[in-house]
Amino acid sequence: MKLWAGRFQKETDTLVNDFNSSISFDARLYKEDIAGSMAHAAMLGKTGIIEAHEAEKIIDGLKAILADVEADQVEFSMENEDIHMNIESLLTQRIGQTGKRLHTARSRNDQVAVDFRLYVKKEIPVIIGMIQDLEEVLVKKAQANLHTVMPGYTHLQRAQPTTFAHYMMAYANMLKRDITRLEDCLERMDECPLGAGALATSTYPVDRFQTAAALGFRCPTDNSMDSVSDRDFAIEFLSACSILMMHLSRFSEEIILWCSWEFKYVELDDAYSTGSSIMPQKKNPDVAELVRGKTGRVYGSLITLLTVMKGLPLAYNKDMQEDKEPVFDAIDTVELCIPVFAAMLDTLTVKEKNMRAAASGGFINATDCADYLVKKGMPFREAYMIVGKLVNFCIKAGETLDTLPLKDFKAVSPIFEEDVYQALELNTCVNGRQVYGGPSAESVQQQIDHIKDFLAQR
Ligand code: ARG
Repeated sequence: MKLWAGRFQKETDTLVNDFNSSISFDARLYKEDIAGSMAHAAMLGKTGIIEAHEAEKIIDGLKAILADVEADQVEFSMENEDIHMNIESLLTQRIGQTGKRLHTARSRNDQVAVDFRLYVKKEIPVIIGMIQDLEEVLVKKAQANLHTVMPGYTHLQRAQPTTFAHYMMAYANMLKRDITRLEDCLERMDECPLGAGALATSTYPVDRFQTAAALGFRCPTDNSMDSVSDRDFAIEFLSACSILMMHLSRFSEEIILWCSWEFKYVELDDAYSTGSSIMPQKKNPDVAELVRGKTGRVYGSLITLLTVMKGLPLAYNKDMQEDKEPVFDAIDTVELCIPVFAAMLDTLTVKEKNMRAAASGGFINATDCADYLVKKGMPFREAYMIVGKLVNFCIKAGETLDTLPLKDFKAVSPIFEEDVYQALELNTCVNGRQVYGGPSAESVQQQIDHIKDFLAQR
């Protein structure tokens, strides 16, 4: 019999029953649901809303159910629609009448809101831990490649020289923001909706501060209607996950490019690449490609929930049952991607020679050539024009700036002297960029130290 059978003259149609049911996916909230119910029961007992011995009996019953669920001894039913009603029915089956007192001063609306928040609150530190592990890999790679010169790009055209370490620390900084974004979101969701009831609390002397504290929330939410209709916390979480995945996807794209024969800047470990069923020569960066692909899936979750919530009047609407699957899927996806990405990065080999050759081949030191003239007193715009002419000349003559004879330099400007070659040397170009945040070994060391401090502080 349905918990709400009193009002109804007919049984629920089986189609509707199955359609309405969320137990197939919200069963994963069992622990949070039981924790929420235990805190609620304890509060009911403490405030005298139910007898203390009844509260105790309920809590013991819930503990036993938790143990049985963990031991895989419990089968949830579609009949009972969702995890909340499944646990409650189970409790009543087991402890009898007293079980029916648990739902006093509570609704599934505040129940699901608290369960869902508890679940996301629990997963955020797991994800942060994984990002931190990835940060450690980045720091390690950067530390080992402070002097690994490579081209930096704009428009995917060789632009200015940098180092692999500088590149790695760029991603380390993005991931640092991802960590703090998740922390901000955790901080904001740390308010307990329990006690909001269906939408307007209740007439019992419920102590929401007690349940909030018992469940590890900073405080109760301030407005009961907001408490049961808000899913911002989940949307914000999905936004943070989407931005994180966007970073991993960009990084994946770089790795995919760098693995290609055209670049060959890195080589993936055999354990982290795959072959082709037909082409014997292939070694594919599947892991990076899948991370890039799965990014779309996480974005999809964000858009799903934003769209579900758009236009819903206050307070709870059944539409909101659609909130859980996208969040669960995003959590699973993110938690699947980060560790495998970290392991792939950790084991890849950096092809220092190829990177340097690519940096030497073009005109990546053209800005440095202009800067050379500027340091000898020429205004930058003029120097820029002269180097442009030089590059044009080199292209026609099949030369690069490093190989061009001094007489050709002098032909465009008498200011050029023998020391231009030193100024154009890649190491000079990189290490001359001593500016805070730049690619010189000293600057990047500082960036590494900052990330290390950030990681050590948590
Ligand atoms: N299974 C529901 C959900 O996930 C629980 C809340 C149901 N509340 C209601 N008034 N029907 O959203």
